[in-house]
Amino acid sequence: TDTTLVADVSAMLRDVPDFPKPGIVFKDITPVLADPRLFGRVINAMAAPFRGQHITKVVGVEARGFLLGAPIALALHAGFVPARKPGKLPYKSVVEKYSLEYGADGLEMHEDALHKGERVLIVDDVLATGGTAEATSRLVKKLGGELVGYSFLIHLAFLDGVKRLGPDKVTSLLSF
Ligand code: PRP
Repeated sequence: TDTTLVADVSAMLRDVPDFPKPGIVFKDITPVLADPRLFGRVINAMAAPFRGQHITKVVGVEARGFLLGAPIALALHAGFVPARKPGKLPYKSVVEKYSLEYGADGLEMHEDALHKGERVLIVDDVLATGGTAEATSRLVKKLGGELVGYSFLIHLAFLDGVKRLGPDKVTSLLSF
């Protein structure tokens, strides 16, 4: 196991106060992505709990979930599916509304993005209130997928998002 990974990622994360709104401390992951060795270790660690679990699709949540979800999909020999903000996907889509730490929004997936019974891993950079991930799980269920779990880089524990998702399904590299 990669024993210094948590410390190495923590050292590279940048806290940006009052972004995107006053009172929010934004965790900027771009320095982690820019370091090829660290990026690779992060992908490996986020995929690790799901190796051997026969994941067939990784669903990445717009936008930073794309950056992590696509390489995790390759690491797991799974396909990648984007869950996007409304109006962005070109083909027929299903939609779920959700509320956010700082606003309300919706997410969409293509109606043919999953085959019935596919084993799905949901990936995002941050678990905050859990509203985004919960909406994504509803989309997965709507499309007949079997949700195996969630992999997050960062978990904001003070916001209780894990409770909404089911603690047995959630993994994250860092908790704050
Ligand atoms: C952030 C983050 C998660 C979500 C977590 O996305 O990347 O998707 O919020 O919040 P929640 O657990 O309270 O739902 P953001 O809305 O900033 O979208 P972006 O990645 O497109 O910037």
